[in-house]
Amino acid sequence: MTLASIKIQAQNYNTMTKNPSIEKKIDSLLSIMTVEEKVGQMNQYNGFWDVTGPAPADGNSALKYEHLRKGWVGSMLNVRGAKDVRAVQKIAVEDTRLGIPLIIGFDVIHGYKTLSPIPLAESASWDLQAIERSAQVAAAEASAAGINWTFAPMVDVTRDARWGRVMEGAGEDPFLGSRIAEARVKGFQGEDLSAVNTIAACAKHFAAYGFSEAGKEYNTVDIGTSTLHNVVLPPFKAAAKAGIRTFMNSFNELNGVPVTGNSYLQRDILKGDWGFDGFVVSDWASINEMILWGHAKDKKEAAQKAVTAGSDMDMEGYVYIEALAKLVKDGTVRESLLDDAVGRILRVKFELGLFDDPYKYCDEAREKDVIGNAKHHEAVLDMAKKSIVLLKNDNNLLPLKKTGQKIALIGALASDKSSPLGSWRIASDDETAVSVLEGMKAYQDNELVYAQGPKVAMEQTSFLQEVKINTSDNKGFEDAIKAAKTADVVVMVLGEYGFQTGEGRSRTNLELPGLQQELLETIYDVNPNIVLVLNNGRPLAISWADAHIPAIVEAWQLGTQTGHAVAQVLYGDYNPSGKLPMTFPRTVGQVPIYYNYKNTGRPSNKDNNVFWSHYVDVENTPLYPFGHGLSYTTFEYSDLKLNKANYAQKEDVKVSVKVTNTGKVTGKEVVQLYIRDLVGSITRPVKELKGFELIELKAGETKTINFVLNKETLGYYNNQGEYIVEMGDFEVFVGGSSVTTLKSDFTLE
Ligand code: NOJ
Repeated sequence: MTLASIKIQAQNYNTMTKNPSIEKKIDSLLSIMTVEEKVGQMNQYNGFWDVTGPAPADGNSALKYEHLRKGWVGSMLNVRGAKDVRAVQKIAVEDTRLGIPLIIGFDVIHGYKTLSPIPLAESASWDLQAIERSAQVAAAEASAAGINWTFAPMVDVTRDARWGRVMEGAGEDPFLGSRIAEARVKGFQGEDLSAVNTIAACAKHFAAYGFSEAGKEYNTVDIGTSTLHNVVLPPFKAAAKAGIRTFMNSFNELNGVPVTGNSYLQRDILKGDWGFDGFVVSDWASINEMILWGHAKDKKEAAQKAVTAGSDMDMEGYVYIEALAKLVKDGTVRESLLDDAVGRILRVKFELGLFDDPYKYCDEAREKDVIGNAKHHEAVLDMAKKSIVLLKNDNNLLPLKKTGQKIALIGALASDKSSPLGSWRIASDDETAVSVLEGMKAYQDNELVYAQGPKVAMEQTSFLQEVKINTSDNKGFEDAIKAAKTADVVVMVLGEYGFQTGEGRSRTNLELPGLQQELLETIYDVNPNIVLVLNNGRPLAISWADAHIPAIVEAWQLGTQTGHAVAQVLYGDYNPSGKLPMTFPRTVGQVPIYYNYKNTGRPSNKDNNVFWSHYVDVENTPLYPFGHGLSYTTFEYSDLKLNKANYAQKEDVKVSVKVTNTGKVTGKEVVQLYIRDLVGSITRPVKELKGFELIELKAGETKTINFVLNKETLGYYNNQGEYIVEMGDFEVFVGGSSVTTLKSDFTLE
C-alpha cells in the first residue's frame, strides 16, 4: 500500500498577541539598562530559609541582600507570605536604580496551604473542570501569600513508575496529558494574568525528564525523534498554545546534550516553531550541572551555552551573575541575547501588573481571608473524591454497609495526617490532612476499631532527607490481628510513606514498602474480607493483593481532605469514577509498561514456541491497564458507529456510541476513544487515546456520545519533526479502559 500523506503546516502559537504598549515599555527599559542590570534580571535566588534544592549551608544571605540592593536579582523563589515578599520586593523597587519589581516563584504543585490531591491523582479524575478549579484554588491561595509565579504544571509524560516524580505529572499519555496541561494553565493563569488572584504558570521540565533511564532521578535520557515529538512534546505544546507564560528546563540531558544547553528544544522548537514569547527558567542550578555532565568546562562556558540555547533565567545557580556580564564585555556573548532574555522576563512582569503595583500580592488582610477558606476545602474535597480509582470490587464488598458492622481499620497510614499531603507540601503544615481514621469516624453507626500495625517509616523525615522505611520493627502485628479476627470487614490502608515519592525518590521495588505486605498476608489469614486502600504516589506492583484481596481502592495521596474523601467513597456516599492515568505493572520487571506500545514483529505465540515478544516468567499484560477504573454501577457500550467507511483527507470522522448504566445507582463514566493507524511510514502504537468524555448516567439511562476525529488527531510527527496525516486504514475503539475491544474501522483515502 502506498502511504500518501499530507503534511500539516507547522503552526505558530504566538500565545498572546503582543501588547504594543508593553513592548514599548520593554524597549525603553532595555535602552537604559546596564549589562549588569540585564544580567540581574536573569538571576534568580532562592529565599533565605525554605529550600527545594541543595543550597549553600548559610543560604548566602549576605550576598543575596547585597545583590538585591544593586538590582542584580530579577526573581526569588521560596520567599513566601505577604509580609516577607513585601520586604524583598521593597528592596527591589525602592533601593535599586531602576526599581524593577521581582517576580516571585514557588512550587505551588497541588495547592499552597490547602492541598489538593497530588497531580497524578487529580489526573485520574479525567475531570478537566475539576482540575482547572483545583489550580484556581492553588493560585488564589499562593497569590494571597505574595507569590505570582508557580513552577507548575509538570507536564512530563512518563512510562516508568520507578521514577519518583511520576506523582507530579499526568501519567503516561500525551493526549490526556495535553488536555490536563491546558486545564492547569487555565486554572493558574485565568483569563487575566494581571488579576490579583491569578499567577503565571510554568511548563516543566523541558524536555524529556520523564524518560530518565531506568527511572533513576537526574539520569541520562536517550530517546528517538518519534518519541520526542509524539510522546514527550505534545503536552508542552498544548501548554504553550494555552498561553502559558514560562517554561522550565531540566536536569537531564537529551541524546547527549543537557537540555539547559539545548538550542534545538529551546530556540528552534519552543521559541521558533511554537512562537513562545514568555521566558525559560533553568531548573535549580542546572546551568552549573552542565559542567558535571561534561558539556561545559567551567561556569563561563556553561553560561555561554545556556544563554545561547535560550535559557533566560538562572535558578540559584550563580552562573549568569558571575560570568555573563564578562562574557558580553569580552565579546563572547552578544548583548542582543541578553536583550531577548530580559525582554521576555520583563514582558511577564508587565503582564502580571507588577510595574503598576509591585505589592499587589502582599496584602496581609487578604492573605488571612483567602488561605484555607471553606470554599477551598470544599474544592479539594471534591477533587479528592473524583481522584479515587476503584481497582477491584469482588462480590460488591464495597460500598460498606452503614450500620451494624464491626469495621477493623488497620495500617499506620490510616492515622497518618502527613503522608496524604505528599512530598510537595512546602507551604502547608505537617499533620494537617484529615486522616482516613478521622474520615471513617464520621460514620458513627458502625463499630470502628483501629489498629495501627507496624510503622511504615522509622522516623519522621523531611523533604530533604532519605526516608528510612521500617523493615524490622514488627510491633503492632498482634493488635492488628486481634482487631481483624472479630471484624465483619477489615479496611487496610497501606502504601507509600508521604516522602517516598517526589523528587529524588526513585525506587527499584514497586511493592508495598517495609512490613506492609507481610501485614496484609497475616491479616488475610485471619480475615480475608479485606478492603485494601492504597496510599501512594506511583503505580505499585501489587499482584498478590490483586489475586487475594476482594476490594482494592486506589486513594493515592489526596491532600488535606483525604480522610473524608476515602470514607465517603468506601461508604458509597460518593460513587467512584476515577480511571488510571498510568499502567500498573504485575512486577517491576515489566517497567516501562504502557498501553500505547508498538505491536512488534512477533506479537503472539502463534507457533507455540518461545520465539515471540514476551517474558518467560510473567504475562505481557499489565495488572491494571491505563484507563481502568470501576464504579458501584456498571456500564455497557453498544452501537459503535461511524458516519462513513471512507473519508477524504480533510473530512471529519464522526464516531458515536451508546453507553448505558446497567446497574442500580447513578454513576459517572469516562468514555474513552482510541485509534490504531494500521500501517505507517513510522510504525504506530496498537492504541492511541484521541478523545474522552466524562458522563453521568442514572440507573437504566442510555446516552449517545459523539466524537470527531480529524487531521489534528489522526496524524503524527515523522522523524523530521513534521506533522503528517497518512492515508490508509484505521481502527477505532471505544470503551471504559484502554483494553476495550469494541471496535470499528475506516479508511482515509
Ligand atoms: C527542582 C525541581 O526539579 C523543580 O521542579 C522545582 O520547581 C525546583 N527545584 C524549584 O524548587
